[in-house]
Amino acid sequence: MIMKPWKKLLLGLAGIFALTSLAACSSSTNTLDKVKNKGTLTVALNPHFAPFEFKTIQDGKDTIAGADIEIAKVIGDELGVKVKFSEMSFDNVLASVQSGKADIAISGISATKERQKIFDFSDTYYDSETVLLVKKDATEKTYKQISDFSKKSIAVQKGSIQENIAKANLSDANVVSLAQPGEAINELKSGQVEGVVLEKAIAKGYVDQNSDLTMSDIALKSDSNDAYAVAMPKGSDDLKAKVNKIIAKLKKEGKIDSYVQDAYALSLKSSSKSGVTI
Ligand code: ARG
Repeated sequence: MIMKPWKKLLLGLAGIFALTSLAACSSSTNTLDKVKNKGTLTVALNPHFAPFEFKTIQDGKDTIAGADIEIAKVIGDELGVKVKFSEMSFDNVLASVQSGKADIAISGISATKERQKIFDFSDTYYDSETVLLVKKDATEKTYKQISDFSKKSIAVQKGSIQENIAKANLSDANVVSLAQPGEAINELKSGQVEGVVLEKAIAKGYVDQNSDLTMSDIALKSDSNDAYAVAMPKGSDDLKAKVNKIIAKLKKEGKIDSYVQDAYALSLKSSSKSGVTI
């Protein structure tokens, strides 16, 4: 059948219309627009990671505090939206960004190469280092080198890069993954495990509050990018540009370090009041 010219024209117009509405549609799924339209930025995190995110009581109310919380609040202010913190176990934090339940994740997340394949990451805001926590008496006598941990149990947080770091460095040890760092610390104190692989800034809090614990001199190697960054869904270019600007400003003003120091002091104060390991 030969198509009449006016039909061709109509079809062409319909095509153009379909394409433009598709384009409009895809740009409205852009993370920045989505957040601005909702008026809320939902941030996924695991708040058992002082001084970056932890629970505390402020003015008689249960709240989440920490350096990451301060960063999230600045991002919310700059975007002119409310910030909602969505708590979950660490192994669910990134998944909730992928599924769209959360808009972004700020949870001491190391921007590794593998994670970069699946998520967009902001520039990094904090350099991390992984250490091995042990009982003080044990390190002096028994645990002086990596081979001393052969067939021993080592605890790590489930879903963290420390799972891989522990397996790669202490290949003869039995690596046990637990939901929260606090559980790993309790297992170490009670002798269920012989070590905990954790990041230094977090380990420091536990050492300061538990005179029976110490950081071992054994150095652990990591071949990934361990520094912390904000995780976003792939294709969040606009939001990423905004977040990068905010991070650059905070870094330049020395704010990130002061957030970490203030949060550290607050975490020691709040855990000594409640007597719980955070
Ligand atoms: N930096 C490590 C990682 O990205 C551990 C982060 C754990 N964070 C937390 N809030 N529990 O795998």
